Amino acid sequence: MRMRKKKNLLPRLERVAEFQEKDPYARRGDWRSWKPDCTALYLEIGCGKGTFTVETAAAHPDVLFVAVEKVADCILLAMEKAQAKHLTNVVFVCDDAARLGEMFAPGEVNRLYINFCDPWPSKRHAKRRLTYEDFLKSYRAILPMGGEIHFKTDNRPLFDFSLTQFPRAGYTLSEVTNDLHADDPNVIMTDYEARFAKEGARINRCVGTVTELPEQLGEEPELGLLHYLPEDLEHLEYTPYGMADVIEQEILRRKSEARKAAKQAAQG
Ligand SMILES: C[S@@+](CC[C@H](N)C(=O)[O-])C[C@H]1O[C@@H](n2cnc3c(N)ncnc32)[C@H](O)[C@@H]1O
Repeated sequence: MRMRKKKNLLPRLERVAEFQEKDPYARRGDWRSWKPDCTALYLEIGCGKGTFTVETAAAHPDVLFVAVEKVADCILLAMEKAQAKHLTNVVFVCDDAARLGEMFAPGEVNRLYINFCDPWPSKRHAKRRLTYEDFLKSYRAILPMGGEIHFKTDNRPLFDFSLTQFPRAGYTLSEVTNDLHADDPNVIMTDYEARFAKEGARINRCVGTVTELPEQLGEEPELGLLHYLPEDLEHLEYTPYGMADVIEQEILRRKSEARKAAKQAAQG
């Protein structure tokens, strides 16, 4: 979903400047001074238009929320929502989540939210997934032992792949579900989640808790997300976000293979 460029981006950003940390690197180790009476710090990466961040922050006034998002047009909308609710416990950073270790000190973040991240379905792009083993290991630098990652996605192949990655990066899994909304109809939804739920998606969710790194890793799981799809691609009830093109290509590839096989069989 591409976002249209916002008109008057700069003056609008100025009007919500109190919600933005422009120098997150200087804040490293000192985030809690933003709200000295906070009991914990929760971080969301890729917050998009911020509905989840703002509603979750409103529901937990004792927690400081930091949301990192790389697209300025998105974060503007998120900050305008926070301002409309007069929140004092949420702060936004416009930057790349790959640099979290430079923004937060060891153990500074109690909980990390990853909601509906981009799936990067092909094998060669697997390392870009925010739940790839290397990314999960990098979050250990800012979470304490016992710190948590809360992960939600509509994308079952991405979810199943991610379940293979958490233990490899030293997290124990809990609260694993393939139908979050059936389990709890009152969850706070993200912007994408609300859209996907309307389209009939079942929402997957799990919690990963930081523990010791495993001594042995075993064989690397399959990296391409096609591997995690069911055999019958033509009758999928729901096409996960970011997978339409690869599924279409795979259907065409299989048809072409079947045609070739039939031709060879006919030729004897
Ligand atoms: C599919 S959208 C989901 C937005 C939101 N979490 C939701 O559920 O509505 C993914 C978001 O993550 C952001 N994003 C992707 N990679 C990022 C990165 N490395 N650092 C910060 N933001 C990132 C994108 O700009 C986009 O807004």
